[in-house]
Amino acid sequence: MALKESKVLERYFDTIAPGYETMNSLLSLNLDQRWRQRMIQILHSYNPKTILDVACGTCDVIRVTKSRLPEAQIIGLDLSYGMLEVAKSNQPELLILRGNGVELPFPDNSFEAITIAFGFRNMPSHKSFLLEAKRVLKSGGHLCILELTQPENPFFRFCNSLYLRTVLPIVSGFFGRDKEAYEYLANSIRHFPNQKSIISLILESGFAKARYELQTFGVTTLFVAECS
Ligand SMILES: C[S@@+](CC[C@H](N)C(=O)[O-])C[C@H]1O[C@@H](n2cnc3c(N)ncnc32)[C@H](O)[C@@H]1O
Repeated sequence: MALKESKVLERYFDTIAPGYETMNSLLSLNLDQRWRQRMIQILHSYNPKTILDVACGTCDVIRVTKSRLPEAQIIGLDLSYGMLEVAKSNQPELLILRGNGVELPFPDNSFEAITIAFGFRNMPSHKSFLLEAKRVLKSGGHLCILELTQPENPFFRFCNSLYLRTVLPIVSGFFGRDKEAYEYLANSIRHFPNQKSIISLILESGFAKARYELQTFGVTTLFVAECS
């Protein structure tokens, strides 16, 4: 893996960490909370007792998961110290550690579920992450990936693309955040493979089943995979 690429990403996320949650709500018109809620609703239906949240950032996912599954043991992992510091200052009791999603520091068969919200796209290799997720999941375990995607419908795709090219850099620039970091994010959404390709990759990585559901016309997609 591109160590250099990881370092650049780490720096981007360190830079935007202090205002990350506010910017997220602003840029998504508060839809980000609803998107995460849907992922956690599905996770809840599996009632996992051990959960790993990869690319946990400031731990929005963990916060909601804890309220829905209070008995579950949840660990968060992220590359950026900046993001983890914000998480720790908000919730000092959280179990979080710094690490790379493509080299998970856990033994095989450790978790009943893995969640990753808006972080899969940033993995240096999607396949390496999926193989690692499969390795640390127990048999019958579930992987829930929530990701910003391009709508399948050409009209909504065009609108989304326009938004990424215009609104996102203007708003992030206006609030004084690292414009380069948000440009990187916009590019990574544009270049992210389509939903069907991701499903094929998940199955190629050894998961027994995989499906997806579009949210807000496909601006985000929730992928759910199950280990045999
Ligand atoms: C857009 S944020 C998402 C944070 C959080 N999951 C949420 O729902 O808001 C993406 C996160 O992925 C992390 N990240 C990027 N590459 C990573 C990697 N290779 N391994 C672990 N975390 C990574 C970043 O540091 C950042 O916190």
